[in-house]
Amino acid sequence: MSYDQQSPHEPGPPTATVQLNHTAVYASDRQLSAEFIAAILGLKVGAPFGPFLPVDLGNGVTLDYYEKSDEPIQGQHYAFLVPDAQFDAIIARLEAVGVTYYADPSHTEPGRINRLFGGRGAYFDDPDGHNMEIMTRPYARP
Ligand SMILES: [Fe+2]
Repeated sequence: MSYDQQSPHEPGPPTATVQLNHTAVYASDRQLSAEFIAAILGLKVGAPFGPFLPVDLGNGVTLDYYEKSDEPIQGQHYAFLVPDAQFDAIIARLEAVGVTYYADPSHTEPGRINRLFGGRGAYFDDPDGHNMEIMTRPYARP
């Protein structure tokens, strides 16, 4: 069976019941990075769980910060859908701690936000260079 074929025994879209539960976020200092994103987004850092330092998001997904100090961190991209009412506060927190935000993912438009999909959005780096995105409207795909 190829991956794009659905089993005839399972009705409905095969992906409809599958949810992302957690993902590991590599960090050179897990405490620093977890506290950074929690402070910027208005979240809480959870209690350590083995090697992981969790930050729970509103849709049940956990970012498990995992320390990787023996090699460089490869930057990943994480996008957060935030309530419209919290967007300004998040931008204000970035400005307060001196973290530059950008309108675009390539970071060529500093200090600006975008207006994609009828909402507002911006990008900023976390302490290890992960490209973080906040947006008030999800991407509208064709
Ligand atoms: Fe994105």
